[in-house]
Amino acid sequence: MILLDGKLVSEELKKQIAIEAAEMLEKTGRKPHLVAVLVGNDGGSETYVASKMRNCEKVGFKSSLLRYDETVTEAELLNKIEELNKDNSIDGFIVQLPLPKHIDPDKVTEAIDYKKDVDGFHPINLGRMQRNLPCFLPATPFGIMLMLEFYGIKTAGKNCVVIGRSNIVGSPMSVLMARNANPGNATVTLTHSKTQNLKELTLKADIVIVAIGKKNYLTADMVKDGAVVIDVGMNRETSDVTKSGYKLFGDVDFDNVAPKCSYITPVPGGVGLMTIVSLLRNTLSAAKKEFY
Ligand code: GUN
Repeated sequence: MILLDGKLVSEELKKQIAIEAAEMLEKTGRKPHLVAVLVGNDGGSETYVASKMRNCEKVGFKSSLLRYDETVTEAELLNKIEELNKDNSIDGFIVQLPLPKHIDPDKVTEAIDYKKDVDGFHPINLGRMQRNLPCFLPATPFGIMLMLEFYGIKTAGKNCVVIGRSNIVGSPMSVLMARNANPGNATVTLTHSKTQNLKELTLKADIVIVAIGKKNYLTADMVKDGAVVIDVGMNRETSDVTKSGYKLFGDVDFDNVAPKCSYITPVPGGVGLMTIVSLLRNTLSAAKKEFY
């Protein structure tokens, strides 16, 4: 079994991003600039956004955090997005999800200029992804593709089961794995809460990608010998307190599943770090106007 080391891969990719950012600074006198908008005080979001900002600094980007109280109105947020769209000093921005219930995430996503949508959530970017055109790819699925590529894991012709059909992970993941690209060209089954006989499907899978948000969801009896298992779970438990205040669990029963796998991602130290490096890559692409 080989551990897919998100730390190793992300550090390697960050080196290249830092080189390109330095070249840009040298040539143009400016750094790539990412803005993150954070609404409310969700514990997970706070941690993820802080990490995104910290990583920007590490690779030589400028980063700015805009905080809003959870009482901010949808109109106020949409006005701010309009401002950010027009501000030429900003290359890309993200609005961290989830948002409070009174704010429609679809309206927010569609209000972002697709040319600055470094999360890759805007329908134009999603449509272009589907058609294999240059665009910002959603960070987590993009990060998983970079991980598969780094380790030279063959996906063409393989059976891939994706568990969970969220807009952020499962749905775009299924598109990327099925596209005519490398990695890609897999035979993909996208499963969800209405799927029947999930175990029958996962037992036939060469690659299982789990993004369901439930600790220990994928158990050893669901996985065939030699499978590649990618765990997108970020389940935070306060009852099992560590020095940093939380313990993070994936969606996979790691201890029992890992011995059956050819490759598996750990949590933490796997996909989460790849998500951040993908966001950095997208921000650099925005700054260099690689797509638009
Ligand atoms: N919430 C969980 N993952 C993400 C992400 O990749 N981007 C944003 N904006 N919010 C998230």
